[in-house]
Order: sequence, then C-alpha cells, then structure tokens
Amino acid sequence: MRAQFTRLLLSLTVVCFAKALVLPSELSEITGLSEAQLRRFLDSRATSATTSSPPQSTCAEANTTVVFPKPTLPTAYDLAKRNAFVKRDGTKLTLLGKDFRIVGGNIYWLGLDENVIPDPSYPSKRRVVEVFGIVSAMRGTAVRGHTLGISVGNPLSVEPSLGVFNDAAYESIDFAILVARLYGIKLLIPLVDNYNWYHGGRYQFIGWHGIPFEGTGSNITPPDVGAYFYNTTAIVDSFKRYITQHLTHVNRYTGIALKDDPTILGWESGNELAAVLFGDGPAPPAWTKEIGELVKSLAPNHLFLDGSYGIYPGTGQLENTVVDIFSDHFYPANITKLNAGLAQVNAVNRNYLAGEFDWVGQSGGDDVADFLDVIKETKGAGDFFWSIFGHDDQCCQYVEHDDGFSFYYQRSSFYTTRGDVLINHATQISGAQVPEILPEVACPAAQFPKSLLPPGFDPTLLSLI
Ligand SMILES: *[C@@H]1O[C@H](CO)[C@@H](O)[C@H](O)[C@H]1NC(C)=O
Ligand SMILES: *[C@@H]1O[C@H](CO)[C@@H](O)[C@H](O)[C@H]1NC(C)=O
Ligand SMILES: *[C@@H]1O[C@H](CO)[C@@H](O)[C@H](O)[C@H]1NC(C)=O
Repeated sequence: MRAQFTRLLLSLTVVCFAKALVLPSELSEITGLSEAQLRRFLDSRATSATTSSPPQSTCAEANTTVVFPKPTLPTAYDLAKRNAFVKRDGTKLTLLGKDFRIVGGNIYWLGLDENVIPDPSYPSKRRVVEVFGIVSAMRGTAVRGHTLGISVGNPLSVEPSLGVFNDAAYESIDFAILVARLYGIKLLIPLVDNYNWYHGGRYQFIGWHGIPFEGTGSNITPPDVGAYFYNTTAIVDSFKRYITQHLTHVNRYTGIALKDDPTILGWESGNELAAVLFGDGPAPPAWTKEIGELVKSLAPNHLFLDGSYGIYPGTGQLENTVVDIFSDHFYPANITKLNAGLAQVNAVNRNYLAGEFDWVGQSGGDDVADFLDVIKETKGAGDFFWSIFGHDDQCCQYVEHDDGFSFYYQRSSFYTTRGDVLINHATQISGAQVPEILPEVACPAAQFPKSLLPPGFDPTLLSLI
C-alpha cells in the first residue's frame, strides 16, 4: 500500500503541470477529494497564486512592510496528510503510516472569547487566521481548543439552554476548523470543562437538572456537587445528547461533519476532569468508558482521550480500553511526575500527552527545556503549552489574558527567548528544520490562495482578512 501510495503521489506531482493527463481514480480515494477538486488544485498550481500581498490594516501601527508567510499551496503529500486521520499504534501516533507527534499550543478562545468586548463574543476571522499562522510559524502540528467543543449555557453557546441548539454558534467553530485544515494543523477538542467559566462545563448540566450550587471557576459550593455530573443518569444523557449533536454537526465551510473530519485528531472527554473535588482522582472510569464508547460509535476514525487531570493507577482509569491517550497537565513542569505518568501509560500500551504546561517556568519546578527534552525522547508522547494569544481585530494591540501564561509570538525579547525553547522542541519532535530567521506572522494575514478554499466558499467571508 505504501509503495502504491508513493507512486500515486509522484504521479500527482508529475501531472501538476500536465493537466491533460488522466488522473488515477485512486487519487480521489486517498485524498478524499473529488476529481473536480483535484483538477482545481492542479490548475491553480500551474497558475501559481502565491503572489498576493497583505491587505492594509486599519491600524496605523500595523507592520505590513515585511513579506509574510501564509498558507501556501500544499504539496501533494500535504494534501494527503490533510485528508488522513491520525491513528494510534500502541504508544505512538501515526499519520499516513509515519510517526505523528502532537506538538503545539492550547488556544482556548477559538469558538468563543472572554478577553474582548463585548465579553464574551465570537473571535474575528482575522484573529483566528493570525493565531493558526503563529502555530504554523512555530512548527506546531496540532492545537488543543476548548471552546471548539465546550459551549453550553450562554446565549452564544452551541446549547444555550437545555435541549436548545444554536446554529449561529457554529460559525466561529466551523471557521477555526477550516483554517486549521488550510494550515495542515490537527485539532484536539475537549467536550466539557471541570470548572464553571463563561463557556460552560459540567456545572451547567448540573444546574439544568435542578441541582442548586453557587460559584464560578473551581470555587463551587457545595464542594462535592460536581459529582452529580457523573452519577445522575438524566445528566449523563443530556451530556451525551450534546456530544451527539456536536459530532454530527456539518461544517458550513468544508461540508464535512465534525465526526468525519480528519482535521480533528480526537475528542477529549473533558478538561481537567476530577472525580468530585479538584485533584482527587480521575473522572469515574465507568463514565469515561460510556462517553468514550459514544464518541467512538459516532467517530470511529477519531482518537479518544481521557480528560481526567492526571494518571491514577489502581483506580480502574488505565484499564479503560476505549481510551487512546491519557494526559496530565503541568503547573509547573515536573519531570518526576512526567516520568511516572509516562511509565504507567506506556505499560498499558497507550499514548501519553502533556496536554498543558507552564512554558514561563517562573513558578519553580523543572527547567522547561529539560522537561521538553524528556518528552522528545519518548516513543510518541506529545505536548501542548498553555496558551496562545495574538492581536486584536485591528492588529493594533495584543489581546491580554491575565493568567500569567499567555504566549505572544515575537512580542518582545522575553517571548522570543522563551519562544525559541518551544520552537526548537517542536522542530526536533516533528523532524522539521528550525529556520535561521523566524518568520513574521501577518496581521492582517496575507490573502489565501483561492485554490485552498473549499468549493463553494464565499470569498467575501475572507474580505475581513
Ligand atoms: C516591520 O517588521 C520588520 C521585520 O521584522 C522590521 O524590520 C521593521 O522594523 C518593522 N517596522 C516597523 C514600523 O515596526
Ligand atoms: C451523587 O453525588 C452527590 C454529591 O456527592 C451525592 O450527594 C449523591 O448521593 C450521589 N448520587 C448517587 C445516585 O450516587
Ligand atoms: C513533582 O511531582 C511529584 C509527584 O509526582 C511531587 O512529589 C513533587 O513535589 C513535584 N515537584 C514540584 C516541583 O512540584
């Protein structure tokens, strides 16, 4: 199959500039593109559309004088990767039969943001395009995006009130998935939050079912009320209905249902899920199994992650065969905890992910570069730093977020110096080259080559960019 595949890719490259040739029918099968789409791609290669320059910003200070990287025309191999699912092979992940390593950042605001006015609002297309450009410039392979999957309980949510679904909330989600696809970046999407923030989480479902509580974030009373999310059939059923609605949603830009989209590498049962209180154990394994089986039944080509905050041997957590990836978060970096978790997860032949870590490294803990070196040396583990922000809609100011862990690409020497650690790690782990000079990331972004856009895509939607 591999040899046949390589031959097909070669033939695709050859026919690029000779479109009179008949396209092998297997190409559609392998790339997932129709013959018309393939021809469109090949035509555009011949007329190279890489020369568009960035539009003017409305912001006086925006720097549009440099030559910016932008989504470039994909090679045939890039195109195939974009249309292939990430798979798990024991402790490793693969893409088109080669090792795939998750490396990148968390971008929690892609579906709905709290750091702008009005708070919350959907992020602008310009911001979404810029931030994927940043991940691409940093040689990331993947992004973990909370609000692409966690969206309940306010008027802008996917599910504003119990059983009521809001198609308008999908505009930003669909667009972020499209842009990830254009950049060839894969997505990991959590389905619920352990806490009570603006985008909703398990407390929203608990409240909908008439169980009283008070508080925001992780500061909830009564403190054990979060257990109802797992132990009440009606609440579990409501969450499962939300998952079914979300995974079967068809992206308005790509025409691909979320459950069938190779851009999405997997679904995480939730973010930092704890049994009852914070840090007291994994989400109940029977619940994780039930959610995992639902996800796998809807999306058999996607991976499933246990969203428990950490690895807890002896609880039944690691016995869940439906789980492909177990993960932990690190505030601060902790090599002892990392090594222990890795050994436990590898012992059950599953993949390991450091789903969040403090890249700043100023709150004690181990040196971040040393921590990342341990991940690099493993057979297949991945990592996402917490978390990436970019500019505002006008490309004038940075969007500020106050948790102390916001990463701004090349904002100042502080970010450049520490960013180098992340970029070096990403290139080492993914086998890419570190460029001698790091590219600027356009804000506003350069126009996309038309051929990258899905058939039927309304180009005026990108006129904002
Ligand atoms: C724009 O960016 C380039 C490349 O980073 C830099 O050399 C130049 O000084 C910048 N211009 C302004 C006005 O910031
Ligand atoms: C669910 O958890 C809550 C909070 O700990 C507890 O009070 C309740 O009895 C539990 N319900 C069941 C059915 O176990
Ligand atoms: C690292 O984790 C271990 C538990 O695995 C803990 O005992 C230790 O205190 C942690 N170190 C830091 C610096 O947090």
